[in-house]
Amino acid sequence: MARFFQYKAPGELQAAADELGQPLSLAPSAAPLFEPFRVGGRTVGNRLVVQPMEGCDGTLDGAPDELTFRRYRRFGAGGAKLIWGEATAVSADARANTRQLWLSPRTAPAIEQMLAECRSAHREACGDDRDLLLGLQLTHSGRYSVPRPLLATTDPLLDPLTYHRAAGRPVNATDPRLTDAELRGIADQYVTAARLAQQVGCDFVDIKQCHHYLLSELLSARNRPGPYGGSLENRTRLVREIVTRIRAEVPGLLLFTRMNCYDGIPFRGELIDGERRGRPVPCEGPVPNAFGTDPNEWQREDLAEPIAVARELVQLGVGMVNVTMGNPYANPHVVRPAEYPPVDGYLPPEHPLLGVLRHLRIAAAMQAALPGVPVVGSGYSWLQDFAHLVAAGEVAAGRVTCAGFGRATLSHPDFANALKEQGRFDRKQVCRTFSYCTGLMRAKDHPLGQYPTGCPPFDKEAYGAIWKEVEAKRSP
Ligand SMILES: Cc1cc2nc3c(=O)[nH]c(=O)nc-3n(C[C@H](O)[C@H](O)[C@H](O)COP(=O)(O)O)c2cc1C
Repeated sequence: MARFFQYKAPGELQAAADELGQPLSLAPSAAPLFEPFRVGGRTVGNRLVVQPMEGCDGTLDGAPDELTFRRYRRFGAGGAKLIWGEATAVSADARANTRQLWLSPRTAPAIEQMLAECRSAHREACGDDRDLLLGLQLTHSGRYSVPRPLLATTDPLLDPLTYHRAAGRPVNATDPRLTDAELRGIADQYVTAARLAQQVGCDFVDIKQCHHYLLSELLSARNRPGPYGGSLENRTRLVREIVTRIRAEVPGLLLFTRMNCYDGIPFRGELIDGERRGRPVPCEGPVPNAFGTDPNEWQREDLAEPIAVARELVQLGVGMVNVTMGNPYANPHVVRPAEYPPVDGYLPPEHPLLGVLRHLRIAAAMQAALPGVPVVGSGYSWLQDFAHLVAAGEVAAGRVTCAGFGRATLSHPDFANALKEQGRFDRKQVCRTFSYCTGLMRAKDHPLGQYPTGCPPFDKEAYGAIWKEVEAKRSP
């Protein structure tokens, strides 16, 4: 079944990276991942991070439901000491799907309960939660809001690929762009949500600037006129305002950010010999809207702006930076290197190891530019049975402070405990990056407008029947 990942031993993975010209130094064991670190006056018990992983399983008014509670109990019990809670919308119209969490006075009690259950599961399994950091990712989905895209700018490459669900067509030039006054209103929503987050027991909030949702789109809005577009100062005006206000108005709440440090350009599947192969969209001349990307050679990262933004936000009080990249709708192979593509994707246009190496290289460059600031790296799941050795190698060399695990946490939520107790993952739970989880995320033909997501092959109890239902609907 494996197309790319055929390594039986760490040395084989190392040799494959050597062959691709980007040597990897795997650690002999996971030990470096169990060194505590400090952030914002707190000691965090290990370097393992549960990345934000939406379950798309909330109620229609944005509260966690049964599967959401279950997921956070499993994350809590799993042993990672930093649980970077999932995308949680700051308003109703900021949600990316009908079942995304939304932090409001109405949902606050249920979200508080969810966080409390996560902590108590952690205490029960690990003995102590004083060295656990738990928070939520505050999001405005911007271009990917449903049912109506809330666009920050015109993106000539992305607009034709962005589906306007309410209108039943792609975005076009007639669609309105968010006004400056609307953007200022969104800053108020972030502050209100941050205050609620503190009240419900978050240690931190993440001001999400990734994956081309609103604040990520603004980072690249070079062609937006007015005070929120054009110069880097303008493009970062909204995030700076949000961070400054939360610092002042919600003292004591730690502020982190997950940010795109490389956008790249959109890809599309092209049917060639019966296979959907990934191809970049045609792009003549400099790339207009891509952050962290060399405009004349979009394959290459240009980190001058991401570094400048991260440094400025750290000056304003951001304590931790989670480095990510790409756009899950337009170039999923960049965000999450995978063995098999998601339903709305295409066959990998590059060896997934190259995708992982891009993540490692960019996270290391960001960490080098931010000495003393803990940086989290992403994109480790494709490394499967050896992900911990690569992560430990990166941490031991100081190339990142923490390793974040995304898809791997859905198949193997107790991955950190397994590493601690056995020094390796449980082979029967290692994520094989088959993209079932993304498949469920993209499945909308449900009475609530969205199927919940998880790991059908390894968590059959919760997702086996759900997957079968989705498959049955897809087959003619
Ligand atoms: C089902 C699913 C849900 C996700 N939810 C979020 C999210 O809420 N916020 C976010 O920043 N990234 C989200 N991601 C991206 C992951 O956090 C992570 O960056 C990506 O999967 C790559 O890491 P990995 O190789 O460890 O999986 C999601 C990915 C998947 C597959």
